[in-house]
Amino acid sequence: LKNNKVNIKFVDRYGKLHEAKATVGDTLLDVVIDNDLNFESYGVCEGTISCSTCHVILDQATFDKLEEPLMDEYDMLDLACGLTDTSRLGCQVHVTREMEGVTFTLPIEITDARGV
Ligand code: FES
Repeated sequence: LKNNKVNIKFVDRYGKLHEAKATVGDTLLDVVIDNDLNFESYGVCEGTISCSTCHVILDQATFDKLEEPLMDEYDMLDLACGLTDTSRLGCQVHVTREMEGVTFTLPIEITDARGV
């Protein structure tokens, strides 16, 4: 691969599949914005780890390859609806080359930890 783009997919809250071009090093939140995916209320705190609306569910293999989340991310995930063992905040996950073809799933329900 000469360029720094990988193809990833998102399954939205309604079960619909969306394809996206992702730049290596960007966050999943960046990818959602850059691809105009317009997921309702996704990433409303703009990556400041204070809303949990960017919650995504990863496949186990992809999850295992990532670095440990920061404490702040764990705290925020604890407040997220539908938390799973492979949940992460999309604003804290950076795209890697190994993510080519990977699908990220949005939980059916979201909570905005800011309470708005
Ligand atoms: Fe708010 Fe990620 S965008 S916690």
